[in-house]
Amino acid sequence: MIKILLIVVAIGIFSCINATKDNAISTKEKINNNLQKATIPENVKAIFDKSCIACHSNAGNMAKMHVNFDKIYTNSYSPKTMSKKLKNINRVITRDIMPSKRYLKKFPDKALTDKDKKLVSDWINSELKKYNK
Ligand code: HEC
Repeated sequence: MIKILLIVVAIGIFSCINATKDNAISTKEKINNNLQKATIPENVKAIFDKSCIACHSNAGNMAKMHVNFDKIYTNSYSPKTMSKKLKNINRVITRDIMPSKRYLKKFPDKALTDKDKKLVSDWINSELKKYNK
């Protein structure tokens, strides 16, 4: 009888521990998601997804050495590197260097509109203020 009681108590304690673990994980995920959203707005991310991600992501080729948007989205660059990457992105976008002309000939719908460029540029400029504090 005591044995059964012990088993029941043990199961009870075990499921409590597991429930606490699950809660801890989901809270952490929530915080991470919020940080990501606060860092990069959906409308800016949509532009990178449309015009840059094909080459500049984990799945991409050499281009990801220059900029990897998977790392930008997940905030995986150090603050110093991130600020350099953002400045570079701003430069290639405002000077129409990226996406390359050759690529745009094949995929004209990937071109950034003036509105896209302004959205990205405004976001980068406000983001850079955080890094230059
Ligand atoms: C078709 C593939 C492709 C697409 C699409 C593309 N890139 Fe690139 N990008 C490259 C390659 C390849 C390089 C490295 C070679 C070079 O400099 O031309 C590069 C280099 C860069 C660099 C570093 C260049 C420098 O002078 O420091 C930046 C920044 C960059 N890309 C940003 C972007 C952004 C932002 C977009 C979207 C608006 C984009 N790229 C779209 C292929 C691409």
